[in-house]
Amino acid sequence: MLSNQASDGKRTSLHGHWSSRMAFILAVTGSAVGLGNIWKFPYVAGQNGGGAFVLVYLVCVVVIGMPVMMSEILIGRRGRRNPVATMELLGKEEGSSGNWRWVGSMGVIAGILILSYYSVIAGWTLAYVFKSASGVFAGATPDAVSAQFAGFVGNWKAVALCHTLFMGLTIFVVARGVERGLEQAVKFMVPALLILMFVLLGYAIQSGHFGDGVAFMFTPDFEKLTWDSVLAALGQAFFSLSIGMGAVMAYGAYLPEETSITGASAAVVTADTGIAILAGLAIFPFVFAGGLDPAEGPGLVFETLPLAFGGMGGGTFLATIFFVLLAFAAWTSAIGLMEPAVAWVVEHHNRTRAQASVIIGGLIWAIGIGSVLSFNILADFKFGAGTFFDNIDYLTSNIMLPLGGLLITTFAGWVMCRNSTSDELGSSGALYKAWRILARFIAPIGITFVLLKAVGALDWL
Ligand code: TRP
Repeated sequence: MLSNQASDGKRTSLHGHWSSRMAFILAVTGSAVGLGNIWKFPYVAGQNGGGAFVLVYLVCVVVIGMPVMMSEILIGRRGRRNPVATMELLGKEEGSSGNWRWVGSMGVIAGILILSYYSVIAGWTLAYVFKSASGVFAGATPDAVSAQFAGFVGNWKAVALCHTLFMGLTIFVVARGVERGLEQAVKFMVPALLILMFVLLGYAIQSGHFGDGVAFMFTPDFEKLTWDSVLAALGQAFFSLSIGMGAVMAYGAYLPEETSITGASAAVVTADTGIAILAGLAIFPFVFAGGLDPAEGPGLVFETLPLAFGGMGGGTFLATIFFVLLAFAAWTSAIGLMEPAVAWVVEHHNRTRAQASVIIGGLIWAIGIGSVLSFNILADFKFGAGTFFDNIDYLTSNIMLPLGGLLITTFAGWVMCRNSTSDELGSSGALYKAWRILARFIAPIGITFVLLKAVGALDWL
């Protein structure tokens, strides 16, 4: 293992550092903003009845997401290594145990599993770039758009090809390293995506069904809320913010000493949540305008948006741009999903970044084939939560990420001493106290309660 102790006692990262505070914020935002906001949030909200789910999601983001994100960044910056080595190092340094490294290991595995299906969906967006550009959606009816989607995902070879292409693109950027690869990639994507979301929102407002969309998203009907939906909301908060698996920890390892962790976290959380809400507001009006079902599932945006664009002037052009941006957003997230595993292989197995990226990327690609087939050949092969894809999704978002968040906040709140955390967070004032209460009590207890409730372990109460 290489040493990364600088002469002044502060550690530095072996992989270089972000060139500025803004670069870090953009990179974390780039990892947070992705398919989770635009593809997953609307369909999960739709499946869980809308309003009440959205409300629970927002509460989870603020009282659990925010402290978990801050804890991850501060741990990452203090350790300045890959999440496995960082947890081990700090566990020992804080007088606990090196076994905390298993939290890092679980994160590495979660990242690999998430990316295995994430890349498949990102592949769909690549295919939709070409479909949109070909003009098939111009003036298409809801039935035609649904048939397009069914025809595409039913063709496993096409889906596998797109998945392969997307993994190739991801391996390429990750292999290039922190500054050259990650930073440049995110600098223009996030702002561009935001602009296009506002354009879409403008069309949604004119669609005649904007009120229906708003009502669906913001009128809570608590009758529809089960503990499973609450867990889904918690899982969605983790997934969308990229937390609970050490990705933000890995990025924090490259964060300069003087940057405010609270400020950076607040910026990322606001941007990510804002874009998810924006996506919902832009998508649900078209769901209702097209007579589609909000509970339709993973195909929701792939059926709604082509329909929306298909009906508007210049729609072919805008749809193409939209799917390009969505693919870009997925790309920056995919980079973050792979980073913990790659950093780990580089440091522990003495590989170059390029070698590590190819090894890990190949493994992820192979697991992803299970999700490729979940929408066609193996669509009827169900167990546990459903198809192979459903199971990987449920296991990662609803179990592994919350469990990771629970352990990370417990570590930051209880194992690390007050001096260490207040040193990293740079204050001992009211904000620090608020973080500490959230990290020590609210987040761990809240996560444990929701997890136990959802699996029925508290039914005797
Ligand atoms: N947040 C990403 C999205 O919304 C997906 C994701 C989950 C992620 N965990 C991550 C991305 C970790 C990067 C790192 O699409």
